[in-house]
Amino acid sequence: MSEQALTEAPLQLPCSVVIISSKYDNSQGAMTATAMYVSQTPPLLVVSISKTSATHQLIEKTKEFAVNVLADTQLELSKRFGSVHGYEVDKFQEFGISTESASKIEAPLILGCFSNLECQVKNSLWEGEGNYAIYVAEVLAFKLNEELKPLVWLNNQYFKVGARCRI
Ligand SMILES: Cc1cc2nc3c(=O)[nH]c(=O)nc-3n(C[C@H](O)[C@H](O)[C@H](O)COP(=O)(O)O)c2cc1C
Repeated sequence: MSEQALTEAPLQLPCSVVIISSKYDNSQGAMTATAMYVSQTPPLLVVSISKTSATHQLIEKTKEFAVNVLADTQLELSKRFGSVHGYEVDKFQEFGISTESASKIEAPLILGCFSNLECQVKNSLWEGEGNYAIYVAEVLAFKLNEELKPLVWLNNQYFKVGARCRI
């Protein structure tokens, strides 16, 4: 199999679609990303953040961020927060996004999401090398809207969650 073909391999993993928000002093930012479960005890997740992103700079300063898990009604937010860099623009203002304060961290929580997870970085990988920083983070608090369904990202396309399997 060619190296080119192998670049398609990670795209075959179904992923969550989240907006990672962070805030340092008066500067707030957010970007579309995916997040993955690590463990329940302690409650850990992992995210991979491009070092070219404005959000990376905020996380490096604060070592905390919110994971806003998008509902399948929020596809437009995923596209918007993933299409521009927040160096010169406040995406929350630009896109008219409603937020509320988190209970344990400074990062704003986006309203209308499937869930909002308040996270503190516990460990990071590749801080000095590579294009991405990998953050393992502990969830300090979370909110869930059980009436909504999460959006899924697979092979560069968006999907809705289907019916629950009988086990
Ligand atoms: C569905 C989707 C998933 C994405 N996942 C990631 C990701 O996991 N990590 C990442 O660094 N960028 C990811 N991106 C790209 C960033 O959202 C994009 O570069 C964004 O403009 C960065 O914004 P910022 O510079 O304001 O932080 C994703 C984009 C989309 C649309």
